[in-house]
Amino acid sequence: MVAAAIIVDGRLLLAQRTRPPELAGLWELPGGKAEAGETAEDALRRELREELGVEVSGGDRIGDDVPLPDGRVLRAYRVELVSGTPVALDHAELRWVDGRELGDIDLVGNDRGWVPDLRVHLNGW
Ligand code: C5P
Repeated sequence: MVAAAIIVDGRLLLAQRTRPPELAGLWELPGGKAEAGETAEDALRRELREELGVEVSGGDRIGDDVPLPDGRVLRAYRVELVSGTPVALDHAELRWVDGRELGDIDLVGNDRGWVPDLRVHLNGW
């Protein structure tokens, strides 16, 4: 599983989940599942095209791997926006947060451990 840290002008893009019910309303780094044969970068490019309507490139790893209960691993990457403006095609809402706001927002549990790593790159903390 791959997740994207898109940071522009010291703010991080977060996306609000609509599903499943226990995660709906919580915020996450957008991303998803790498398909067989896809590199992490391929998967990020496809997922962000589908979910946000943007083209991205990248990226460097950020934060530690998060082991998921089903044995898979969730890994975050810093990616650059190449073209497009993010739109919530598969989420309830999008939000750009600075370092202070990141501490106040309800993130999905899996993403919470990345906060200190993300904040280093954000304004306002
Ligand atoms: O978005 P999608 O439903 O494909 O994500 C599948 C699973 O990946 C979620 O149920 C969640 O456990 C995990 N996920 C996450 N944090 C992210 C992206 C995905 O915990 N930033």
